Amino acid sequence: MKARLVFILILSFLSTITKSIRINVESGVTKCITEDLRIKSMTVGEYAVVNPNEGQPLPEHHRIYVGVFAENQRQFHDARGVESGQFGFEVVEDGKHFACFATIKHEPAVNTSVDLNWRSGVSAKSWSRLIKKGSVEAMELELKKMEDTINWIHEEMLYLREREQQMVKQNMNTNSIMGWSGLFSLLLCLSVAGLQLWHLKSFFEKKKII
Ligand SMILES: *[C@@H]1O[C@H](CO)[C@@H](O)[C@H](O)[C@H]1NC(C)=O
Repeated sequence: MKARLVFILILSFLSTITKSIRINVESGVTKCITEDLRIKSMTVGEYAVVNPNEGQPLPEHHRIYVGVFAENQRQFHDARGVESGQFGFEVVEDGKHFACFATIKHEPAVNTSVDLNWRSGVSAKSWSRLIKKGSVEAMELELKKMEDTINWIHEEMLYLREREQQMVKQNMNTNSIMGWSGLFSLLLCLSVAGLQLWHLKSFFEKKKII
């Protein structure tokens, strides 16, 4: 049970990139947060204005406009005059994505704090849809998760390799760094594969199948 927990913890650690930050939005200034997203990955974000007077309704001038865009201006989220919300979409193009925040009113001048939690990667997928009772289904689910993680790591490696090639062209000095990250990805892959085997073995032993 403990091993399983550790395994799941490691897996979820590997499969998520979470950006959890508090942003300061000045009146009249648009603040954008950038995130490098990979095509076909899922991304989910949640945001909420921090109420300066807890227990009271949020003052009108702390309400915000929120827009989420890709580099090519394609818009994925558009909310006006809100105090909290969420966005989620499947990435259709590699590259930088922006979540931009601005207060809807410029006067009076205030600083509005916004909590943003932006997750991307396989964990953002909704596993709950797949969860059913019974151990066979549970194992299927585990396998499905692993498969996704492996695919994700594989894509990540391909992406890194592609990046590496671009970088080599741009600057020979970055070569060794990218080489290290390639090696790191490989080690990551190998350790995940090892964990999988170990996990499956203990799963089957527990179920007395082998
Ligand atoms: C908002 O924050 C900025 C920088 O942190 C500061 O310069 C400015 O005076 C603040 N404005 C208000 C209205 O508190």
